[in-house]
Amino acid sequence: MVCSITRRASFSASYYYRLPELSQADNEARFGIQARSPGATFWLWVKIIGPVDEFGMVANLSTQVKRSLTRYILNPLNGRNLNETWAEFTETLPTPEWISHTLWHRLKPHLNVASIVVSPHEQVRGEYLGDGMEARLTIRTHFSAAHRLSLTRLTLIQNSEIYGKCARPSGHGHNYHLAVTVQGEIDPKSGMVVDFKSLNDLIENGIIKELDHRFLNTDIPYFDQVVPTAENIAIYIRDSLETPIKNLGATLYKIELHETDNNSCEVYGKSVTEAKTEAKIESQSLEQLAQGSPSTPAPVSNSRPASV
Ligand code: NI
Repeated sequence: MVCSITRRASFSASYYYRLPELSQADNEARFGIQARSPGATFWLWVKIIGPVDEFGMVANLSTQVKRSLTRYILNPLNGRNLNETWAEFTETLPTPEWISHTLWHRLKPHLNVASIVVSPHEQVRGEYLGDGMEARLTIRTHFSAAHRLSLTRLTLIQNSEIYGKCARPSGHGHNYHLAVTVQGEIDPKSGMVVDFKSLNDLIENGIIKELDHRFLNTDIPYFDQVVPTAENIAIYIRDSLETPIKNLGATLYKIELHETDNNSCEVYGKSVTEAKTEAKIESQSLEQLAQGSPSTPAPVSNSRPASV
């Protein structure tokens, strides 16, 4: 029985983004205060995968995992400047995605690490899953908007039966929390899968400005004919961002939209969905070959991040 467990930990360190070929003023123009020496508390989520042993554990969290994390990550980095502590951060800027890549490789000899998420603050997360130089970057942001759930071809009574209070004619509002995750190859110099500022600007200018403080049904033409449920809003955001993100050199992996504390939805980038479908077909074909039964359904078993 294979299972995964996750251990959270944190360390505090200073760091800087400075490219040696640029002046300090140019670095500050490009990276903002990150070109100085800001400090951050880096939160980590370390996922470990493996079979459940005779003691009922994948790995012993209170001894093996905690000790390895403390010895190989937390003690060496806590209270230090990242750039000046490890060689990995001398050649490559210590971005969240590069830090997750580095920590994964530092921990792998000691723990069966599946993935590491690194977050220097609430709005940003890097994630590495052991796949070459490929990593993910998530930017979190938010907007406020009003909507009404109804189909124009139905009566108010019929719409109320389907959508409940959400069908009331005057609409209602939400504070939406949006997480956009992209994946791509880490640049060995900048440490980034995509230029952070460009991606951040794209999300703000490409979608947040458009949706923030709007009545979605009437202000956004797309929702003339499409009910602005969280699912449809997430799909609209995906379709709006997918090509511009590709133009920045990365792939849109996932859109996560939280409508309330209780309700959220996720949609994956089209290329990710296609990859998953292809992987599933491939997996099914192999399973069928192995079992000699073309009708036997098979689980998705590829280890690529796209299948997670
Ligand atoms: Ni609503």
